[in-house]
Amino acid sequence: MVQETQSGRRIMSGMRPTGRLHLGHLVGVLTQWVEFSKTSEAFFEVADLHALTTSFDRTDAIRRNTTELVLDWLAAGVDPQKCTLYVQSHVPEISELHLLLSMIVPLSWLQRVPTYKDQIAELGAEIATYGFLGYPLMQLCDILIVRANTVPVGKDQLSHLELGREVVRRFNHLYGPTLIEPQPTLSEFPDVPGIDGRKMSKSYDNQIEIADDEQTTTKKVRSMITDPLKVRRHDPGRPEICPVFALHNAVNAPRVPWIEENCRSGTLGCVDCKAELAEKVNGYMRPVRERRANLDENAVGAILEAGAEKARAVAKETLADVKSAMKLPR
Ligand code: TRP
Repeated sequence: MVQETQSGRRIMSGMRPTGRLHLGHLVGVLTQWVEFSKTSEAFFEVADLHALTTSFDRTDAIRRNTTELVLDWLAAGVDPQKCTLYVQSHVPEISELHLLLSMIVPLSWLQRVPTYKDQIAELGAEIATYGFLGYPLMQLCDILIVRANTVPVGKDQLSHLELGREVVRRFNHLYGPTLIEPQPTLSEFPDVPGIDGRKMSKSYDNQIEIADDEQTTTKKVRSMITDPLKVRRHDPGRPEICPVFALHNAVNAPRVPWIEENCRSGTLGCVDCKAELAEKVNGYMRPVRERRANLDENAVGAILEAGAEKARAVAKETLADVKSAMKLPR
């Protein structure tokens, strides 16, 4: 058995290597990863096999994106001395567990996961492969293989965890208590809006990236939409529907009461409000961007190699337990 930390909490999460990270990742996800790494045992994975599910026909960016993703993690303060960072395909036990569990998962369970239908509607029927249908099962295997009990994820991933817990119950019912039912934890931060007011996301092209420079950031903040009824400076605004205000909440908390009051009363105009926000966003991202610029990309290989070795040590034990529970020949 692998040692657990005092809290008994073991964290696992991952991201697909699909491009550079943005402010939404920093505020919502990575600060949480950094905090969890201090109090719990933590495993963070580059989900390259998950990236394959939707980009099997364009794989050439995956390798580069893996390095970029890890560099963004390190720049955000994720410390490989305090947690385990690795690439999913470097831990083949995940794939083997996926095959074993695929035997007990009814097709209908996978077909009814909302992201399955949503993604097909968004990306087209070509992505409806066997592998893509198994996306949430593979995610479960990521979690189970390192025996994690706690999974920091966004709201959009809750249905995957729900499916996962059902699969665990079915396994334990069929073969005896072996696997842990993982619990999600949501970030206390609501979704960070992008410049168009929708959730910040690369797929909406509304993001403020770690890779952006300060000028670009300022320009993006200036172009943000605000309360459409606040046309002139002295018109009263409604902070509760304004994405600029939501970003102040994320990066400028001490000033939020003042901004709220003066937006409502019409003393604060959107131009000034955005100017202050641009400064705060740049201030928030500056240390991350500076660290990013000074990182040695050649260090990533060794970090991921050491991480895979640590993850595999746990993974082999889990897989052995699963095979033994399933009474596969020794
Ligand atoms: N599906 C997750 C996402 O798109 C990424 C992911 C892969 C993940 N494996 C995981 C998240 C395991 C949590 C745990 O965001």
